[in-house]
Amino acid sequence: MRKPIIAGNWKMFKTRDEALEFVYAVNNNLPSIDKVDSVICAPFTVLRDLVKRQGENLRIGAQNMHFNENGAFTGEISPVMLESLGVSYVIIGHSERRDMFNETDEACSKKLKAAFKHNLTPILCVGEHLQEREDGSWQDLIRGQIIRDLNLLSSDEVEKLVIAYEPIWAIGTGKTATPEIADDTCGFIRTCIKDLYGESVAEKIRIQYGGSVKTSNIEALMAQPNIDGALIGGASLKAEDFITLVKASLK
Ligand code: PGA
Repeated sequence: MRKPIIAGNWKMFKTRDEALEFVYAVNNNLPSIDKVDSVICAPFTVLRDLVKRQGENLRIGAQNMHFNENGAFTGEISPVMLESLGVSYVIIGHSERRDMFNETDEACSKKLKAAFKHNLTPILCVGEHLQEREDGSWQDLIRGQIIRDLNLLSSDEVEKLVIAYEPIWAIGTGKTATPEIADDTCGFIRTCIKDLYGESVAEKIRIQYGGSVKTSNIEALMAQPNIDGALIGGASLKAEDFITLVKASLK
């Protein structure tokens, strides 16, 4: 049985005061980490504050990082720096980074390798634009992302990886993929992993759905056999909603 993982992606939201208010509100209200992984992926500026105050059932993640350990890369943050803060997760290859900041599969593959080296669990985002959903090329696109992004990882690393299937047409648009489309695509991703790394890795890897997940649709999504969790943007910003979303994943 795969443990569910519910991760909030705060994107470029929340000042320090707002982040602290959130963490104090959720800390004693999350289910046991033995049952579900509850994660908040926050801006770099509040990571240390959140790690210091995270309750026993919450873990903190970053939303991006460089693949090098240090160097002349103005404005970047390294895996060593995240590890030294006590961060547990890092989102890699979010579509906003791929589309707006020219993040390539080659960079994603190096980032995944570097994350494992520094004890960070990566959440790799894959997914298609509306055009690719409509013209049927989404399978080739997603298989290609998986092959290229995972190519530096060992099977042991792949089974610990979290993949988030995020159809770009469903992010921040209010349009959720139907539970059937979401499950079908997460199942397709699991089959790709099976073809590349074998049955046992495919059974262990956790695959999330992301894109307009909210308190009203999470139960239907989580009821699907191939969906092991959710990566949630807008709806993860309110403490009360985040608690509801995590609890719903256990139903
Ligand atoms: P959304 O964002 O839940 O606001 O659609 C999801 C994401 O971008 O990870």
